[in-house]
Amino acid sequence: MRSAVTYSNEPLVSLRSAELHYRVGGALSALRGRSSVVKAVDGVSFDIHRGESVGLLGESGCGKSSIGRLLMKLEDATGGEIVFAGEPISGLRGAALKCYRAKAQLIFQNPFDAVNPRFTIRATLAEPLENAGIPAGEREARIIAALELVRLPQPAQFLDRYPHQLSGGQLQRVVMARALILQPDFVVADEPVSMLDVSVRAGVLNVFRDVRDRLGLTAIYISHDLALVRYVCERTIVMYLGRIMEDGPTEDIVHEPLHPYAKALVAAVPVPHPDQSHDPLPIGRGAPDPRNPPSGCVFRDRCPRAFDRCASEVPQLRQIGTRKVACHLF
Ligand SMILES: Nc1ncnc2c1ncn2[C@@H]1O[C@H](COP(=O)(O)OP(=O)(O)O)[C@@H](O)[C@H]1O
Ligand SMILES: [Mg+2]
Repeated sequence: MRSAVTYSNEPLVSLRSAELHYRVGGALSALRGRSSVVKAVDGVSFDIHRGESVGLLGESGCGKSSIGRLLMKLEDATGGEIVFAGEPISGLRGAALKCYRAKAQLIFQNPFDAVNPRFTIRATLAEPLENAGIPAGEREARIIAALELVRLPQPAQFLDRYPHQLSGGQLQRVVMARALILQPDFVVADEPVSMLDVSVRAGVLNVFRDVRDRLGLTAIYISHDLALVRYVCERTIVMYLGRIMEDGPTEDIVHEPLHPYAKALVAAVPVPHPDQSHDPLPIGRGAPDPRNPPSGCVFRDRCPRAFDRCASEVPQLRQIGTRKVACHLF
């Protein structure tokens, strides 16, 4: 029998060698010698404990949103396993899946894509309550409370408005309110401020941090921008072409990145501020074609420190001090 203590130490979320391989192209791509599989997520393992906030960091196309979609069960893993509160989510169906969808919420990148333009704000927020079977008479109070939680001033004045009548920052708060209205345990925020004007980003991020702390949420914050991840998360997972390169305390990674790719990301962020735009990565050309990743270490053809072994052997994620690193240098 498990003791209560053992249970609370169990991770809330675990990925165990998770894979999401997309089939792309057809016979023509095969003829050109290109593989017809994109390994968007390729053997990713990590645990997230209750109340923990983890940043998922990496360039566009490295598989961050794919991990978000796996965690929300919007896609089924093509390999490995995703476990939530001790249960593999692959088997969830019917009522159990509905319950999971209430507990695990996604905050989308573009708030204008995340809402139905024909729904008022009231209808936008009532929808999840209705789906969860909350009686009509209780909905309005829950809607107002959720809008207050995300610090939308005078929330009642927004209820009859349509999305296009709100600013991007206001609408992102509404999207956040909708994600939080069923009191989830776990939230994935996928680049939630990247489509917003720089001037309103810090405000939205502060709301996110504040709500997360007040509700004790477990959160994954997805971004290609280390400055933003640093602002929000105590732990960071650095991804490259579907794999984890480094995983550890954000401040340790910022002050002394170990993996050469993490070093490049840190070098590209001169000032830690959420409004900071940054220089291009100091590692030359962009990421390789994900359908034809390099053998061995997927980062080796951009790595300034690559050597023979990097081409022949995939580096495994190993514990190095406070973090885990997948690199043959360690
Ligand atoms: N539905 C899909 N079908 C085929 N390939 C996809 C699909 N979605 C994403 N990909 C590919 O998977 C890789 C990872 O994408 P994604 O998870 O969106 O990365 P990120 O969020 O880090 O930018 C990319 O190469 C992308 O082109
Ligand atoms: Mg993405």
